[in-house]
Order: sequence, then structure tokens, then C-alpha cells
Amino acid sequence: MNTKKVLVAGATGYLGQYLVRELKNRGYWVRVLIRKEAQKNRFKEVDDFFVGQITEPNSIKGITADIDWVFSTVGITRQKDGMTYMDVDYQGNSNLLKEALKDKIEAFQYISAINGDKLRQLKIFEAKEQFVDELKNSGITYCVLRPNGFFSDMKDFLTMAKAGRVYLFGDGKFKLNPIHGEDLAKVCVEKMIEGVKEETVGGIDILTQNELAEIALKAWQKPIKISHLPDWTRRFTIWILRTFTSSKIYGPIEFFLTAMAFDNIAHQYGTNRLEDFFKSEVKRMKQR
Ligand SMILES: NC(=O)c1ccc[n+]([C@@H]2O[C@H](COP(=O)([O-])OP(=O)(O)OC[C@H]3O[C@@H](n4cnc5c(N)ncnc54)[C@H](OP(=O)(O)O)[C@@H]3O)[C@@H](O)[C@H]2O)c1
Repeated sequence: MNTKKVLVAGATGYLGQYLVRELKNRGYWVRVLIRKEAQKNRFKEVDDFFVGQITEPNSIKGITADIDWVFSTVGITRQKDGMTYMDVDYQGNSNLLKEALKDKIEAFQYISAINGDKLRQLKIFEAKEQFVDELKNSGITYCVLRPNGFFSDMKDFLTMAKAGRVYLFGDGKFKLNPIHGEDLAKVCVEKMIEGVKEETVGGIDILTQNELAEIALKAWQKPIKISHLPDWTRRFTIWILRTFTSSKIYGPIEFFLTAMAFDNIAHQYGTNRLEDFFKSEVKRMKQR
């Protein structure tokens, strides 16, 4: 049994679930923050539940009592509950930090994203990086991780590949190394143990966008058909979305389309390969 007591906020999400499993495998005592009682049945072996809304400070009073380490993976990805990035990614995490400071916890880990610090003009990063600044200036021992795209987010390529053709902006030669949640969760815990302050985290394979499209098509056993759209169509799409839709709609697309226009290479970690993930996803989709 590990002696540290740990709080995971964001435990119901893609990364959070792997993080809880990794912490429990290593013998930590784990409390998770959930929004609703019904979310309890998603977990088999956590030690304590705290039901509260991270965006409502009064509802999370006492959440860090007796806690040594906080991990927060809270952020809007696909949630459609009317909140903005500022409400959740910034203010929600800031509310949690205030509790952590009050209880003088040992260390706080926050998951931002690769290049978030360089792309602060994007809605999603404006909020995340405002929180990163606050965390760094708070005096607490912190760890900021900047992961590359998750395998779960690469499924959009599989969806295109299923229809027989993958569309890319530009020549498809920019590179990235996406990471599996299981591998990232291990890095989250290891960096906290090592006391690392900041790190970019990516998967083991660095792929060009063309290679990524190819493995998606191969997973469906389709011939390699990739269309390269001129880059002005990408910039035009961002402009249209920014002009005519709200940040809730354009935020994630703006991020994706911007990130596709340069290399995103993080430090390499883990053992899971995107090729194997795509093959198992296709198998799962065919069984449905
Ligand atoms: N996906 C990627 O490729 C990627 C890459 C780099 C960084 N990141 C960042 O890594 C973090 C974790 O990503 P993920 O894919 O694990 O996200 P996810 O699956 O969407 O999980 C997000 C977590 O935040 C919580 N949350 C969202 N809106 C909330 C709200 N209004 N009030 C309270 N809780 C709320 C969710 O709770 P509920 O389950 O109750 O909704 C969930 O636990 C995010 O900040 C994301 O931006 C993601």
C-alpha cells in the first residue's frame, strides 16, 4: 500500500479513467470528484467519492482535506452543457487550486496540451494557459503536462477512412506522435513521483499525417486514397467558423485545424502503437 492520498478531478473522462486505474495498480489511496451519484458505478476500486461541481466553489469545499497529491484532467472536450472554456478549464481548475492551497497539499498536476503556451490565441488554450499561469504563480509544487493528441481523438481519421478516402490539408508531411491514455497515465504518475515541473508527452511513433491516414485506411483494408486540400481551405474554414459560430462550436475545430498546420512532436513515451489501436477499433466497430 502506497502512503500517498490522491485526488483525481476529471476521473470520469478518457484520461482520468486510465489515471485512476494506474494509481490503484500502484497502491495509492484514491478519491475521485464526480458530478453525479450515478457516475459512481463507472469505478470498481476507488477509496472515496466526492460529489460536487468544480465550477461551483461552495460545492467542492473540503475536497482536498487529507490529500497529498491532486491530479486534474478537467476540461471541456466534447461536453455540450452550455459552459465555456473560461468557466471550466480556467475557473473550475482555479476553484480546485484554492481548496488545494487552503489544505496545503503537497503537489498539484494539471494536464494542458502540447503547444498550448504557444497558441494562447486559441479559445481553448487561452483558458488552459491562464490556469497554468495561476498554478505556477501560486507557490504550490506543480507539474504541468503537455500531451500530444490522444489516440481516442485520432478516431476522426478512422471515420474518414471507413468511407474510403482521407482528406488532409496541405501536403500531409507535418508530423505528430499521438499517445494512448494508458501510456499517458503512467507518465502522469511517474512525473509526479520524480517532481518534474513541466513536460511534453507523446507516443512512441512519430508519424506524418500521410502515414496516419495510411494506417487508418489499412485498418479498414481499403486502398490508399488520400486527398490533399490546399491550405487556404483550412484557413478559410477557421475564418468562417470564428465569424459565424460560437466558441463552443469553433473551439475544438479551430484547435484541430490549427494544430494540423505544423509539426507536433512531444517527448516519446509508452509502448502502445496507433496502428494496433486502429485495428482493434475497427474490429470493435464491425462487431456492433
Ligand atoms: N483529447 C486530446 O487529444 C487531448 C490532447 C491534449 C490535451 N487534452 C486535454 O486533456 C484533458 C483530458 O482530456 P480527456 O480526453 O480525458 O477529456 P474528457 O474525456 O472529455 O474528460 C474531461 C473531464 O472533465 C470533466 N468536465 C468537463 N466539463 C465539466 C464541467 N462543466 N464540470 C465539471 N467537470 C467537467 C468531465 O466530467 P464529466 O465526465 O462529468 O463530463 C471529465 O471528467 C482535457 O483538458 C483536454 O483538453 C486532450
